[in-house]
Amino acid sequence: MKGLVPAGGLGSRLRPLSHTMPKQLVPVAGTPVVVHALHRLREAGVTETALVVGEFAPQLQEALGDGSALGMRLTYLRQGRPRGIADCVMLARDFLADDDFVLYLGDNVLPGGIADYAAEFRATRPAAQVVVHKVPDPRAYGVAELDPDGKVTRIVEKPPEPRSDLAVIGVYFCTAALHEAVAAIRPSARGELEITDALQWLVSRGDEVRARVHAGYWKDTGTVDDLLDCNRELLNQLTPAVCGEVDGASELIGPVRIAEGARIVRSRIHGPVTIGAGTSVLDSRIGPHTAIGRQCSVVASGIGSSILLDGSHITGVPDLHGSVIGRHARVDRRREPRGRRLVLGDHTTAEVTG
Ligand code: G1P
Repeated sequence: MKGLVPAGGLGSRLRPLSHTMPKQLVPVAGTPVVVHALHRLREAGVTETALVVGEFAPQLQEALGDGSALGMRLTYLRQGRPRGIADCVMLARDFLADDDFVLYLGDNVLPGGIADYAAEFRATRPAAQVVVHKVPDPRAYGVAELDPDGKVTRIVEKPPEPRSDLAVIGVYFCTAALHEAVAAIRPSARGELEITDALQWLVSRGDEVRARVHAGYWKDTGTVDDLLDCNRELLNQLTPAVCGEVDGASELIGPVRIAEGARIVRSRIHGPVTIGAGTSVLDSRIGPHTAIGRQCSVVASGIGSSILLDGSHITGVPDLHGSVIGRHARVDRRREPRGRRLVLGDHTTAEVTG
């Protein structure tokens, strides 16, 4: 079974981060979202995967290379502009040939993995198999209706009045039958070729589309709140490892990962926390649920439930919470006690208190 990972979307809900990087490279618990997806594919026995990439192709290629570090072979397919998930399947027609494949949206996180679902698909081989998850408000997702046997009877993209509470997760197991379906459908109101419409096309033709209900954790990391929630969940499973330097005046509590070349001085790190290579933390309190990237500095600050991307610098900020700080961004304490001074990029959200 081959893998297909769409990673060319605009990520408009993750601006300003997505102005300069693909949302699939935003790190959760210290690892890019798409790397979590590739690990889950590898665990399910997939060794050949195509990534569909857009304008950020060079960044994705630099980060993931030929895939050998992940135990798989990666192929990059260029999509001119994002035209939908079903369009990614069309682009990958030659790569996929007539093989079965798993389409795994590069921004979806399922920490429990997909190996059981893959085994069931291999054993039963319906035309396609989706994974669904009960959510309180499914209107932002594909929504599936099932018969008591787990067969999909109807599947609709973002219905305003959903007829079930089962959101379709971004992991689809497909046979070559899907190629006929993606060639037959037309763009939706948002101008995209929807994978949901292709699956409904199969259902309407009488092909078997099955669903498995996923009871474990799942997130589509489309928004900052979802990213932070996912960061918290993955950090709760952190395996501690201290490779960097921690001085005698610092204290580590709970699971903490400190990469080589990182330096912790006169600070309190309350896990789960991960700190990347080359980062310095001086006179600060970090955690819990905080992931700090590589080559960052945190000085005389307090940070909790946050994600700091590579190269960011925080100085003299005692109470940073629930924040995502982009690459090479700076947050400094203002010396003059008059008002707040902000220099923000396009589409940035800043929340101030007091
Ligand atoms: C896409 C699919 C949707 C699915 C969701 C899962 O939505 O179109 O059916 O439920 O992924 O993450 P999008 O992220 O394109 O809005």
